[in-house]
Amino acid sequence: MSNQKETIKVLLSEQEVDQRIREVAEKISADYAGKSVHLICILKGGAFFTVELAKRLTVPVSLDFMSVSSYGSDTKSSGIVRIIKDLDEPLQGKDVLIVEDIIDSGRTLYYLIDVLKKREPNSIRLCTLLDKPSRRVKDVKVDYTCFDIPDRFVVGYGLDYDQKYRNLPFIGVVEFEEGQEETD
Ligand code: IMP
Ligand code: MG
Repeated sequence: MSNQKETIKVLLSEQEVDQRIREVAEKISADYAGKSVHLICILKGGAFFTVELAKRLTVPVSLDFMSVSSYGSDTKSSGIVRIIKDLDEPLQGKDVLIVEDIIDSGRTLYYLIDVLKKREPNSIRLCTLLDKPSRRVKDVKVDYTCFDIPDRFVVGYGLDYDQKYRNLPFIGVVEFEEGQEETD
């Protein structure tokens, strides 16, 4: 029986990610000058990025958290996303900035933005650490992107493979190797 072993190859170093988050935080701070920004962190993947971004914003920040299900293959075509944990606070009148780890097909955010708009925020924008534009199925407007990346499966900085590697301080690509034949 062969077993697969995965190795992680650095795609974006810790330094590159930190530098880019600084730049994006500066842009957001300028765009929201004179206002407060209400960050909505999409759990779990968005947690690391949200914290690093929030620390570098110079406008007043409030925070809330939301968790949505990743649809199984059966629900993929329907585009239905289930809310596992809803926000604690209402959004009415707030300038909302959704913070996500990665936009892939766009299905999750397409659905979520629609749901959150109905709660009457003053404005709603989207910020993502990573974007895979070549994978887009649903048209989602991304206001702030740290990095566009190719269609590769990535981990680190909140992103997982089978719940592993979220804590890596860089973005890595997962590569699979055939393991040695198990003899016992
Ligand atoms: P979308 O609805 O297809 O845009 O789904 C985005 C979600 O899929 C993200 O929030 C991640 O949880 C997951 N995802 C997509 N691509 C990757 C990846 O390369 N690594 C880890 N998770 C990913
Ligand atoms: Mg996610």
